[in-house]
Amino acid sequence: MRFLAVDDAASLADTAARLVVERVTAHPTLALTVPTGATPRGLYQRLLAARAVGALDLSGASLFMLDEYVDLPGYPAGSFVAYLREHLGDLAFNSSTATHLLTPESAYDPTAYDRLLDEAGGLDLAIVGVGRNGHVGFNEPGATDDQRTRVVTLAQATLEANFPGRPAASRPTRAVTVGLADLRCARSVLVLAAGEGKGEVVRHLAEGRRLEDVPATHLVDHPDLMVVAEAALVPT
Ligand code: GLP
Repeated sequence: MRFLAVDDAASLADTAARLVVERVTAHPTLALTVPTGATPRGLYQRLLAARAVGALDLSGASLFMLDEYVDLPGYPAGSFVAYLREHLGDLAFNSSTATHLLTPESAYDPTAYDRLLDEAGGLDLAIVGVGRNGHVGFNEPGATDDQRTRVVTLAQATLEANFPGRPAASRPTRAVTVGLADLRCARSVLVLAAGEGKGEVVRHLAEGRRLEDVPATHLVDHPDLMVVAEAALVPT
């Protein structure tokens, strides 16, 4: 595992962008996941900037959404596809890049997404954030290594983190997510960890300790794992 502790959100974005640009340059037709949340926002700004100066070309790549809410009231407002349209824009949504979306309809046949992953030859680069309870994508505690794309019930802790102060009626209860099986089989994995409440997860990752109830730690035995974490979260 390569564990990189960075000073702040800006260095996390710089480091992650450097790693992603390197991988895309080496393998322009790679298949990668595009996570959501606050953590990857800076990465996406850097990728757009790299594209603007000709240092990044995703036109041959396949992009895979990692997860999406299934029953989000008001969808697509607040959805992950709306997030990706906002933060990646035409870097992902253009006529050349194969961008694969998870939608509420994916819940009817999640295996269709597995077929797309298989057709791409599996993931070359799984980029994931982590939740405070250690989820990756929406693989919540209890997820197992053999699971692929499927519908999950969101953990209470996840709902509180993602919809603070929102009444139950305006929160989703379920999501569709790529499974740990595909993340673990990716040729390379890049975990980005920043933000409040993630110290414990980062400590387990830094120590290379696998805990059944902390899905992010199911990645610690991956042969090409890179973790970029805010130094404030890293045990000294
Ligand atoms: C959501 C997503 C995860 C993401 C997590 C962390 O729950 N399903 O894929 O990693 O948020 O988000 P943040 O970066 O905002 O802490």
